[in-house]
Amino acid sequence: MLKYNIIPKPTQYQTYDGSYSVSSATQVLAVPEFVSAANFLTAFLKTNPDPKEDAIHIKKVAGMQPESYTLKVSPQDIMITASDEAGAFYGVVTLKMILMQAEKREGKAIVHALYIEDKPLYNYRGLQMDESRHFFGTEIVKQVLDNMAMLKLNTFHWHLTDDQGFRIESKVFPLLNEIGARRKYAGLKGCTLKNRGGEYFHYYTQEEIKEIVAYAQKLHIEVIPEIDVPGHTLSVLAGYPELSCNGNPVEVFCENGITKDILCAGKPEVYDFLDKLLAELCPLFPGRYFHIGGDEAADGHKIWDKCPKCQKVMQEQGLSNAKELQGYFMSRVNEMLKKYGKTTMAWNDCINDSFDESIVCQYWSGHNLKAVREQAYKRDLILSPVQYFYFDIKHAKVSLKKVYSFNEKKAGFGKPGQRIRGVECEHWSEWLDSKEALEFSMYPRVAAFAEVAWTELSNRNYKDFLQRLEWYKNFLKKQDIHYSRVTKKMWSARQAQHFSLGVDGNEFKRSEELRLLEK
Ligand code: ACM
Ligand code: ZN
Repeated sequence: MLKYNIIPKPTQYQTYDGSYSVSSATQVLAVPEFVSAANFLTAFLKTNPDPKEDAIHIKKVAGMQPESYTLKVSPQDIMITASDEAGAFYGVVTLKMILMQAEKREGKAIVHALYIEDKPLYNYRGLQMDESRHFFGTEIVKQVLDNMAMLKLNTFHWHLTDDQGFRIESKVFPLLNEIGARRKYAGLKGCTLKNRGGEYFHYYTQEEIKEIVAYAQKLHIEVIPEIDVPGHTLSVLAGYPELSCNGNPVEVFCENGITKDILCAGKPEVYDFLDKLLAELCPLFPGRYFHIGGDEAADGHKIWDKCPKCQKVMQEQGLSNAKELQGYFMSRVNEMLKKYGKTTMAWNDCINDSFDESIVCQYWSGHNLKAVREQAYKRDLILSPVQYFYFDIKHAKVSLKKVYSFNEKKAGFGKPGQRIRGVECEHWSEWLDSKEALEFSMYPRVAAFAEVAWTELSNRNYKDFLQRLEWYKNFLKKQDIHYSRVTKKMWSARQAQHFSLGVDGNEFKRSEELRLLEK
């Protein structure tokens, strides 16, 4: 019997003889707690409120694992069971995928009888978007969220600030937007200046942030904002230069790459600024986590080494180097976030024993893998290794197959006692300057990622995934999504590490991968 193409692959899937016909008259009957899951389906089905005998039932049962569900299609009815709202929602998501594929006859969708039992491998299944380097806006983010929900991803990590722009409104510190959200031009390295589009000024108002967060919540997606400190802060220092060690004026960065500029770890006003800013921003995000970056601050440490105020704090606190000073800095910010009810996340390259153990570590870079492995026994860990999950990197390096092949052991983890909470794929946007470029890097790799995040390793099979992916590509086509059509044959040895679909300056050469998109 025909199997439906469900991504991520469910834990158990059996088919039976017979079918159930869903029409616009089919009722969806849900217990009150699961009404939002039912609404997600009825919006899709456009059901008629006229009561009829048969129905799609969404029932609550006790004792199922969080986010898990069963889905039974029999000739009599369709039944989804779950113990929590997220489980009911994912049952509906699976049914929605099935209904899209079901044979349509005389206005009815004929769904083959089946039984699915399903539960996630990881309870953190994340996707990150960087809107500092390039800004995409509400509609694109909502479409990404819709597609995340269809793949049962449940965490949206929103990189809202960096050297290239501060993209969330602050009413307490308005220069973060008036100056910090504005740069002279949006850069794609290699473009001539005239092709760089002039002033670039974008940020989300707090109302827009709330709208997106509420939209995500309905899709059972938690939004984690990232305010990156103490490095990656030129957009902060452009408006408030007094927060750096030397207080000299600086501008929002128009180029790609790492800058040395850093917040001073020795000035009380820096901690005061962060406390007030976090007090303002935390209430916009009802989720548990708040990301404070912490990555790539090594060049800034050299500034701290020469700053009398930073040195004084080091002496007072008995800290032996700038890495430990960063631990002190991040731990202080962590205390602020605790006050506002949040759990702190930070990137692995800054984490060591001087960091409070309640800070969740997000692993991206392997250069101190041994140390991160040790940290994994002491604190929760999210895995985003560059070589598997950095989707801004060209497809030749991070191929669909490579993404699919991920498992904890390959990434250097997976020992008993390590606290691996989940995985996340990254869309840094230095080179992603348009909806098409974002989509090209995100799809279809995100489908492979979703299966890695949800489906047990022993239940994964790449060939089988590729077959199911054919339906998913059609699903993307219907949304007019510019997913990558790149195959191994097309890989070129000469490509740059990253790619872009940017404005076409004379000096800027598009990669082979991107030319394919124009077909
Ligand atoms: C990072 O890629 N700098 C976390
Ligand atoms: Zn300093």
